[in-house]
Amino acid sequence: MLVVDIGCGSGYYARRMAAVVGSEGSVLCNDIQPQMLRIAEELARREGVTNVSTVLGTEDDPKLPEGEVDLMLLVDVYHEFSEPEAMLEAMREALSPDGVIALAEFRLEGRTAAHIKIDHRMSIDQVMKEWIPAGYELVERIDSLPTQHLFLFRTAR
Ligand SMILES: C[S@@+](CC[C@H](N)C(=O)[O-])C[C@H]1O[C@@H](n2cnc3c(N)ncnc32)[C@H](O)[C@@H]1O
Repeated sequence: MLVVDIGCGSGYYARRMAAVVGSEGSVLCNDIQPQMLRIAEELARREGVTNVSTVLGTEDDPKLPEGEVDLMLLVDVYHEFSEPEAMLEAMREALSPDGVIALAEFRLEGRTAAHIKIDHRMSIDQVMKEWIPAGYELVERIDSLPTQHLFLFRTAR
């Protein structure tokens, strides 16, 4: 299995996903900040995680292999994209035919994420209005996290 942590930061989630995919799988840590990728590499090395590697993306291109990614995770990242349309297209092209993208964003609605600045939060409506026209369909929305929306998307069929 090939898994990508888009906007991985220090790679907290990438290292945990690496344990789940095991030695047969691999995880790519993707970010636009080389210094974050260096930290992710160092933490993986210290923790003895060998199936994580890094890929430096740009604001409009995550530089992923086309049609090969089984799962992408974006935690608290999508709202930061300066070129969301280009990233949505490039991520879709990188997905394998059955690939899924898991998108987590702090809730704009209600008070569960009131401790997070408003421009770092998203509503269900905002996400759907941007992802559906970009060629995705919703597989599932998980509403049980305490402060974040979690959406599972795949390429629209
Ligand atoms: C708030 S941090 C989240 C880090 C990590 N996902 C976590 O939850 O610990 C957002 C990250 O997204 C990255 N980022 C912003 N735009 C990006 C893009 N177009 N492609 C990849 N990463 C991006 C930033 O450099 C930053 O490391």
